[in-house]
This record gives sequence, structure tokens and C-alpha cells, in this order.
Amino acid sequence: MCSRCGGLLDIERRPDTADDPSSLRELWRARRSSSEPRDRSGVWRFREFLPFPEDTTIVSLAEGNTPLYDAPRSADYCHLPQLKLKHQGCNPTGSFKDTGMTAAVTQARKLGARLVVCASTGNTAASLAAYAARADLSCAIMVPGGQVSHAKLAQALDYGAKVLEIEGNFDTSMNLIRELAGDPLVYLVNSINPFRIEGQKTVAFELMEQLEWRVPDHLVVPGGNLGNSSAFGKGFRELRAAGLIDRQPKITVIQAEGAAPFAHFYSDSAHETFVNEQHPQTLASAIKIGAPVSWQKAWRAVNETHGSVITVTEQQIADAKAVIGRDGIGCEPASATTVAGIKKLVSAGTINDHETVVAVLTGHLLKDTDYAMKYHNQTLIAPDNSPIAGAFTNAPIRVKSDLRSIREICG
Ligand code: F0G
Repeated sequence: MCSRCGGLLDIERRPDTADDPSSLRELWRARRSSSEPRDRSGVWRFREFLPFPEDTTIVSLAEGNTPLYDAPRSADYCHLPQLKLKHQGCNPTGSFKDTGMTAAVTQARKLGARLVVCASTGNTAASLAAYAARADLSCAIMVPGGQVSHAKLAQALDYGAKVLEIEGNFDTSMNLIRELAGDPLVYLVNSINPFRIEGQKTVAFELMEQLEWRVPDHLVVPGGNLGNSSAFGKGFRELRAAGLIDRQPKITVIQAEGAAPFAHFYSDSAHETFVNEQHPQTLASAIKIGAPVSWQKAWRAVNETHGSVITVTEQQIADAKAVIGRDGIGCEPASATTVAGIKKLVSAGTINDHETVVAVLTGHLLKDTDYAMKYHNQTLIAPDNSPIAGAFTNAPIRVKSDLRSIREICG
């Protein structure tokens, strides 16, 4: 096991014969009504599968325990009778990153790190900044200057992190931060950090609990740096090895067309050379990544579960996001790749309408309200300068301040 950031090393779980599946399920269910801080967390509740000693002092914001929604309008849009959305945007800082950050920052404190750092398209930064503040650790984040939503930056600023805006894109920031993390007192928490993956893998556990341990046929996630898909792969693999489930869902990763090195790797039948995208482009800024650091682990997850990797267009992402909204569920653009991708996979016959499908929404709508406003006002412009003609726009209506005009509009 690698105790620090660990390159691409994985933490292997030692099988423990004391954990039999039904007692584990019972124990985890009982913890849901406990007020112990570790039990209040949807990550630490599954601590039998986390590589930390029992007496560890955890750094937690009561992450996890996120809703699994039925989404009938999104299902209709995809031509499916049913679709479930696991909303990881309902975490404390509004994205799935919190489930990994609680574990990584707990480890940073345990190691006596002086400074915790990450490169980010915004959400990892917001999450790290919050957990570092909880742990009273100094924190510096590197973001591509001018390319991160204000909401995400505002979070990192409020939580007291040093925010370094780099000239260049996410991949430039990632290279720089890896060099900085050569210093032994600097602790890197991007998803190459195995503790991030450990925390994030527990989402598979929570999801299975919510589904009463009935494994869905498909699990669909957006792909950027590819930590999330890697974590789901590991989570389901461990659940199966422990006898808690008897098969794994097909893990499918969706990328934006202009930032899709993993999808290109998948569709190249030789699967030999991973070619980074030099100039990734997408309005889904969270996944504007050309050199994903965790592609090998994500590939393992897709390959062993017989999933797939596909791309969706800017138009498809924007419309899917608005459809998800009509279910009363707000997500950020990157998350909407999932519903756009499912629609495409159903039309292609890769997903059949009798199959069960869960899409993972990774970030909250409030993370990127500029995008939503532009979509509804029909001013959203794709990176190739083509306007996005939204099929589900809902622009604000200017109205005179008299009741008759208001009634005419409201019907
Ligand atoms: N969705 C959202 C909302 C994200 O913020 C990210 C990644 C992804 C999907 C992709 O997940 O990288 O595990 O494949 N955001 C990172 C960040 C890169 O810095 O916040 P992934």
C-alpha cells in the first residue's frame, strides 16, 4: 500500500472472513440511525472497507447519504420506462468530490502534511478547500485562469484556500502541481491519490443499499480525469469479492465530444496507445480535460464490466441538462452528459428498455448558473462558435406590473 499520493498504485483490501454479507448489511443499516459522526457520514459508515485504523480521527462534513431519484421525464427523453439519478451534487460542497476528499484529507492530517494541494477545474478545489479548513491545514489550489465557474471559485475563496490561477488549461495545472508535490510536506489530493478513490468507492456501497442490493444493469458516469469511474469500478469489484453482490453493473463513461481522449481510446479497437487531447474544448468546464491521470484504472472498470465509452455533443449536453431540470433536479453541465449519453445508447440498442439504469449526477446546478442562464436566454455559444439552439429553453419574461398582464402570461 502506498501511504502518500502513490502514483497509480491501488490500495488492496485484505479479505476479512469476519465480514459476512448479511451482518455487514445489517451493521451499515443500523448505523443510519446512529448519531456517531462516523456513522453520519455516507463514507465512514462503510469503514470496514476503508484503509484506516478504527481509532482514526476523521475530517468530515457529513458527506455522502445523497438521494437516488426517480426521473420520469429524463427517462421518457431517453425512451426508457425508468431511470434513476444518483445526485452526488447534494454533497456538502455541491459535488461528488467530497466523498473522496474526506478520506484524502484525513490521511493528510494523519501524515502531518504542511500543505494540501490540487489542480482542478473547480469542484476538487472547492471540496479540498472546505476539508482543509475543517482540518485546519494550509491549502493551495491551481485552476486554469478564467475557465472556472465563479461559484466554484467563490467557494474556494470563502474556505480560505490560496487560489492560484494558472495561464493554461487543467492539464498544465495538473503537471505543475505534480512537480510541487515532490516536496515531502506537500500532499497532493487529485484523484491519483488512492485515498480519494477509497472514499469515492463507497458511493457504490451506498447506491447498492438504496437499491436494496439489486445490481443495476448499467451505471453511467461522466468522464474527465477519470477518478470517479475508477472509484466505481473498485467499489463494485470489492462488493463482489466480499459476496455482497453477485455481478457488477456495466460501467459506461460519457465524455464531451471536444474533450474525449478516453472515448477515442475505447473506439480504437487495438486499445494500445492512449493519445491525450492537446486542446480539449467543452462548455462543460468540469470535464475540459485532455490528459486524464486515471485512465488506466477507468479502463479496467469499463473493460471488466463490459461497459463502453462514448461522446455527446454540446447541444446534447445542454438539452439533457434542461430535461433533468424538468424532473426538478438541478445538475451542472458535466453531469448531464450522462442523460445525453443514455439517450444515445438506447437509440443505438446498447441499452435495452427492460434494463435498469442509474446515472450519476456529479455536481449541482448552482455550480454553474451562467451556463443555465445562457441556455434559457438562447445565448449559449459552443466552443466552435456555433450557437446552441436549446429545445427546452425557458427564458424569463418581462412583464408590466399589473395583474391583467400577469394573468395573461400565467394563464
Ligand atoms: N463532473 C463534475 C461535476 C466534475 O467536477 C468532474 C471533475 C467530473 C464530472 C469528472 O470526474 O474527473 O473523476 O472523471 N472535476 C475535476 C475537478 C477534474 O477538478 O473538479 P472525473
